[in-house]
Amino acid sequence: MRNLLQPRALLAGAAFLLAACSEAAPPPPTTLAERGREIFFNETFEGNGRTCGTCHRAEDNFGLTPNFIATLPADDPLFVAETNPALARGFEAPAQMRANSLIRENLDGFEDLDNKFALRGVPHTLALRTSVASAAGPRTGWSGDGAPGDGSLRAFATGAVIQHFTKTLNRVPGADFRLPTDAELDALEAFMLSLGRQEELALPLPLASPIAARGQALFLDNTRGRCNVCHLNAGANGDPAIFGPEAGNLNFNTGVEALPDPPGALVGDPEPPTDDGFGIPGDGTFNTPPLVEAADTGPFFHNNSVATIEAAVGFYDGDSFNESPAGQLILQATGSPLEIDATEIQAIAAFLRVINALENIRQAEAYLTEAGTARNPRRREIVNLAREETGDAVAVLAGASLHPDAVADLREAQLRSSHRPRIDQALAALQRARSRLLAPAQPAPN
Ligand code: HEC
Ligand code: HEC
Repeated sequence: MRNLLQPRALLAGAAFLLAACSEAAPPPPTTLAERGREIFFNETFEGNGRTCGTCHRAEDNFGLTPNFIATLPADDPLFVAETNPALARGFEAPAQMRANSLIRENLDGFEDLDNKFALRGVPHTLALRTSVASAAGPRTGWSGDGAPGDGSLRAFATGAVIQHFTKTLNRVPGADFRLPTDAELDALEAFMLSLGRQEELALPLPLASPIAARGQALFLDNTRGRCNVCHLNAGANGDPAIFGPEAGNLNFNTGVEALPDPPGALVGDPEPPTDDGFGIPGDGTFNTPPLVEAADTGPFFHNNSVATIEAAVGFYDGDSFNESPAGQLILQATGSPLEIDATEIQAIAAFLRVINALENIRQAEAYLTEAGTARNPRRREIVNLAREETGDAVAVLAGASLHPDAVADLREAQLRSSHRPRIDQALAALQRARSRLLAPAQPAPN
């Protein structure tokens, strides 16, 4: 410090500070979504130190996985139940959080914290623009309950503050946290709606991999895979031809709660109570999630009961699904239970892997294009996110030995710097990878 009093050192210090300033001063947020991003990642609402981004991590696809949790320091606000004695009991379930990324949720009220709770995974907040609306109103959260309120994204944000941000279990607004203002809710909603995919796919896609193409055919076949009945175009909405034009994002009891020995029960500290799904008391149904974003956002289902996309697809071949109310509905409608064998399970999963990789490529390109005009530190941040997306595409394809040629392009696109020429090269490599996943257009018949 004393050195700084000498003129040369002072000058050097001033130059350093100036450089740091021009580097660190991002333009003030201008759009509503940009203001929402600031709030999502930085606003603690005078609570226990958490932000929305504590659980919906940008680097983890706006969700939270056990692998990611393992990288966090012990004083990360995610772990407030381990560090703040007022939250030691009845707030989280630390062993379940660390082993299975399960979060404690009091969907049916805060009166009996020891017994009335659910343990649920953190869903990504991608493609919400396509996955919330239904004829019965907005459906948010794994069971579509909202948190609580009217189920809208705005109400969900308020519910999340009360559930997750509190300093004590009294949960008194003004003392334990402050509630978001209307302007903050508008901004949070705009930000969340801006994340990820903004429109539905139009299936079938011309997929180059014969395995993924077979999987797509099974997925779309309402007498074989039957997935498209509930996950129209691999999204979150029911098929309007079956459920009516306004069906939107529907709830079903597909029997996930009936699975034997889910990891949460094997960890058992505490034993997860039965999750009763939608309503108070619940009717056992859960809300259909989109599948384009699925392959790189496991573990799967509301209780993170299944770690691989193959096992998640294989679930539909099992007794838990076929004996569930939804399985029985399918049986009555089609006359046969849902049976898919190992190669078919693999093919459907390959399809989900490939459409996930295509979405990763789309998102990485969008980030890199934005990086072209962005200023630091946002520029560095989105180049990092593009690298994460590209890495996810590598992992979902390489994880099932799909498209080794595209994997090589994607590795090349995993930028190590945020310099312009490298960004251009990465964009070109992403474009090559995409063209390998999609078959060349068929010549028009004459
Ligand atoms: C402690 C971790 C944690 C924090 C902090 C957190 N969430 Fe969540 N979030 C979850 C979990 C767990 C769920 C699933 C809840 C359920 O199914 O009821 C969820 C679900 C959601 C959903 C529903 C997504 C869908 O597909 O339906 C939205 C939207 C959401 N959170 C937004 C927010 C916002 C906004 C904040 C900050 C105000 C926030 N979350 C803070 C853990 C968290
Ligand atoms: C009757 C409607 C219905 C049918 C048919 C259906 N699903 Fe689902 N799917 C759901 C619901 C509801 C959930 C959420 C279940 C839960 O978390 O309890 C879900 C969840 C999933 C998930 C987990 C997503 C995540 O992010 O955790 C995958 C993967 C999935 N389904 C794939 C498929 C495939 C593949 C098929 C066809 C073999 C299929 N689904 C058929 C309704 C359906």
